[in-house]
Amino acid sequence: MTGFTNDYERRVQGAYSRFGPGSNVWGSAEWGGHTINIYTNHEFIHYLFTQPFLDSQPKDGAVLADFGSSDGYVADTVSSQLRRSGHRVLPVGIDMNHMYLIAMEGRHPKVRRLRADLLNMPLPDDSVDFGILRFVLPYFSREQHSRVLGEIHRAMKKGGRFVAYNDGGFDEQTGKLYNQFFAESAAALGGWDVETIKASRNYPSCETLQETARQDGFDVRHAKDLTGEVVGFLSPEIYASRFVMDRNQKRRLTNVFRRWKKSGKLPFDDGLRLRRATYTVILEKQSF
Ligand SMILES: C[S@@+](CC[C@H](N)C(=O)[O-])C[C@H]1O[C@@H](n2cnc3c(N)ncnc32)[C@H](O)[C@@H]1O
Repeated sequence: MTGFTNDYERRVQGAYSRFGPGSNVWGSAEWGGHTINIYTNHEFIHYLFTQPFLDSQPKDGAVLADFGSSDGYVADTVSSQLRRSGHRVLPVGIDMNHMYLIAMEGRHPKVRRLRADLLNMPLPDDSVDFGILRFVLPYFSREQHSRVLGEIHRAMKKGGRFVAYNDGGFDEQTGKLYNQFFAESAAALGGWDVETIKASRNYPSCETLQETARQDGFDVRHAKDLTGEVVGFLSPEIYASRFVMDRNQKRRLTNVFRRWKKSGKLPFDDGLRLRRATYTVILEKQSF
């Protein structure tokens, strides 16, 4: 069973392509005193992904794989940044969605395209030097996370570095707050059923991801909760000012926010800003 086998996932996929890279609102956040887009900002991408790869020996032809790469934006950006520091890497974007691979061909032609399911990749064992996984795990059930990381582990070279950047920090700090709040907001926007969303979206916390990765044979080199460092924006007002919402969507979303605000549990800094719970984990495949 993969991420796109049910109707819910197809709708998420549609929503992501509308709001994904290219939109300057989805992903807007404050970081280091500036408003950035966490999906596209080059300094932020450098901080998350390029920096951890830089202290390895420069090597011609090292393979950089972006697992669940969408249109290849991250793989292209990171490989250009590495190239500027003397690493000539071969970027590969791996995605099972044909639409994204067509987009990759047009937008990021330097990235080699591989259409594959992350649960079963046609990559040889020990073939990837640098790996990236950004906002992909929620597309898999919690039970499948270990299989995804295990498959990536198989494909990585011994000593190879792999960075996972993900949503999910509130998950363990405040019980199910994060999942529940986002499930309700997503349901309000899309007219979906909350239980289906909760059952379909799986945000492992930073600790859970580390534990799973260790079980799959990775060493954890570094883990950082970015919840306080990157403050995202999300509110009915912001949605309404940037996206086309019909009256029903707006009413439903506003009701969700009102209810959560009233409960005193909304993870806001103030009326408009949401502490978007993201974290980054740097992993290494054990070299023995
Ligand atoms: C939220 S998007 C993130 C895309 C990209 N990593 C980024 O950060 O911009 C999730 C991506 O995972 C891909 N994906 C989901 N399930 C997959 C699977 N089973 N195998 C390969 N790719 C998958 C989707 O096609 C989509 O491009």
